[in-house]
Amino acid sequence: MAEEEIKKGLAGVVVDYTAVSKVNPDTNSLLYRGYPVQELAARCSFEEVAFLLWNGELPNAEELAAFTARERAGRRLDPVVKQVVDAIPTTAHPMDVCRTAASVMGARHELSEDSSREANMAKAVDLFAAMPAVVAYDQRRRRGQDLVEPRDDLGYSANFLWMAFGEESVPEVVDAFNVSMILYAEHSFNASTFAGRVIMSTLSDLHSAVTGAIGALKGPLHGGANEAVMHTFDEIGIRPEESLEEAATRAKAWMEHALEQKKKVMGFGHRVYKHGDSRVPTMKAALDKMIAHYGRPELLGLYNGLETAMDEAKGIKPNLDYPAGPTYHLMGFDTLMFTPLFVASRITGWTAHFMEQLDSNSLIRPLSAYNGAEERHVP
Ligand code: COA
Repeated sequence: MAEEEIKKGLAGVVVDYTAVSKVNPDTNSLLYRGYPVQELAARCSFEEVAFLLWNGELPNAEELAAFTARERAGRRLDPVVKQVVDAIPTTAHPMDVCRTAASVMGARHELSEDSSREANMAKAVDLFAAMPAVVAYDQRRRRGQDLVEPRDDLGYSANFLWMAFGEESVPEVVDAFNVSMILYAEHSFNASTFAGRVIMSTLSDLHSAVTGAIGALKGPLHGGANEAVMHTFDEIGIRPEESLEEAATRAKAWMEHALEQKKKVMGFGHRVYKHGDSRVPTMKAALDKMIAHYGRPELLGLYNGLETAMDEAKGIKPNLDYPAGPTYHLMGFDTLMFTPLFVASRITGWTAHFMEQLDSNSLIRPLSAYNGAEERHVP
């Protein structure tokens, strides 16, 4: 087969239709079920966006009340899942904890072998409701802290922060977190969604697809980049006493050196967006608010310095992980927890895709061109 017929990384290959979201790299736009993600981030709660991704329409007041009640009822960490989490050494990455928890939740689900749309919707909502408790508890146990029970008088984002930190967050912080959850929720046929669709296409179960998707998201070329961004900031050195300009100068020098060394700097570049990621301006605005709220202009200096130097040298723009990493850092999350936060959000988009896959399923099974040894025989 001619070299050019092989689409390495499936780059540019359209493999199926989806009605869940539309990414348009020419206009830098992203629509969830037709709605611009920026409008959703400005006007909706994450619960409303989850409902939209699954049902195709925003909820009316009655639907939202029923959905919210259902989500709040599913927030408590299953004691068996907690036991399993406790058995995982804290040397393991928190993404391993998420992946294992999703798998255990699947094995314990009362509808585990039922793949009807109703059962899959119930499983999706259960994962959505329960994953924050896993992520929040995992961070706490790594800090030697106890589990914090969920509060059903708080919305999804406020409760997530409550379970992670054991105190109520102020509305500005809750809003920024809500925006991050909405922006991370869905992005068409990205690597993890596609990995999960492949699993679903074998008529396996929804939790298996989510478990596989979590594995795909862990990699630094995908979701792991938000964590890697913070490692870059740490490597440059976070100095809260520094001015914005001083931090920017050091960051610029670091980037120039990194590019001379031909390093790939995480948080920049995108397979689909080549002129900038549609989600970045909204997330950057949330980061700016957090920088003002916590009084940390030097972080903006690091952010600007890296961005400018990358743009000047290669014209490569930041992706969503770039502003999301420092935002989560400012909120007080440990760096290792950043990609699990992405999981908690993306469960919504993933499961919307997995149900869509089943609705018009065809086994995903591409071909390969063989380039190994010629036929030979055992001597
Ligand atoms: N840092 C430095 N150079 C980068 C870069 C980055 N983050 N992203 C792309 N490039 C360069 C490549 O080195 C390559 O340069 P070359 O043509 O001189 O070899 C060119 O840009 C094309 O990159 P390539 O990796 O082939 O593009 P892709 O479409 O396959 O990659 C990513 C997309 C996301 C995998 C890539 O940009 C990347 O690795 N980014 C860092 C990881 C990250 O932030 N991932 C989160 C994505 S939301």
